[in-house]
Amino acid sequence: MNVKNKKQKLHDFDPYQPNNIPLYEAIYGKNLISLGGLAAIDNMFSDLNIRGLKALDIGFGIGGVAFYLAEKYKMKVTGIEIHPWMVEYARTHTPVGLLNSLEFHTYNSNGSFPYDHETFDLVYSKGVLNHVADKVGLFKQANTVLKPNGLFVIADWIFPIAATENLAPLVCETKESYEQALLNTGFSEISFRDDSKLFLNYAKELLTQLSNNQTFIKQKYGEELFLIIQKQHEDLIEKIQQHQKIATRIVSKKTSY
Ligand SMILES: C[S@@+](CC[C@H](N)C(=O)[O-])C[C@H]1O[C@@H](n2cnc3c(N)ncnc32)[C@H](O)[C@@H]1O
Repeated sequence: MNVKNKKQKLHDFDPYQPNNIPLYEAIYGKNLISLGGLAAIDNMFSDLNIRGLKALDIGFGIGGVAFYLAEKYKMKVTGIEIHPWMVEYARTHTPVGLLNSLEFHTYNSNGSFPYDHETFDLVYSKGVLNHVADKVGLFKQANTVLKPNGLFVIADWIFPIAATENLAPLVCETKESYEQALLNTGFSEISFRDDSKLFLNYAKELLTQLSNNQTFIKQKYGEELFLIIQKQHEDLIEKIQQHQKIATRIVSKKTSY
């Protein structure tokens, strides 16, 4: 296959399908679709007091982040997703003891969040926003559903230069573009933390998991997909090491007027 066809094939590949759940769980961990497992969730909130908060999870995937926060930090978490099958999956896989602490809904990403103004103490999003081109539209909604002084916490990649990644349909924000989008949508006290060292290890751990599960992955999903995932994470490691891609945790506060 020539390079152009290969790139096109990667662009056309929609990874968010139910039959990929065993693949996600083999490489990311139970009920997760993002790097770093449970340690990365703790890290995302490491310096914040989130115990007991009422939170909105934008792009909850298959629910693992919300399950963990509800269990460990006694939070009430509402998740919102663009894939209806994920809502069904997270609802049916919610641990019985957490049924009163968790709810999951779908929404149309061109529409608006189905929640009242000032509903949540915290809005967070892990590993999602590099898929979202209209940051301003989404941030406005996050702002509306936050209570005064509520926190918006994001884990995402930022880039030294704004560009579109050639091998994946990702939106490449810079620190400046992120900051501007947050300022324009009613957030202040914005802080950026570089978590690249941790994410370098998470990416290396993923390669180990991938290799440990290679027989299963190749049998179920084929050698080509195995090699694509391997190459994507080898490239990711190189980009992190060269500071071309920066794993960033962003915290901002809803401005009170
Ligand atoms: C890499 S996964 C991360 C899932 C989850 N946050 C986790 O850490 O396991 C990205 C998720 O973002 C969701 N997504 C993409 N665009 C979205 C949008 N505009 N609003 C909400 N979710 C979105 C996808 O459906 C997918 O489940």
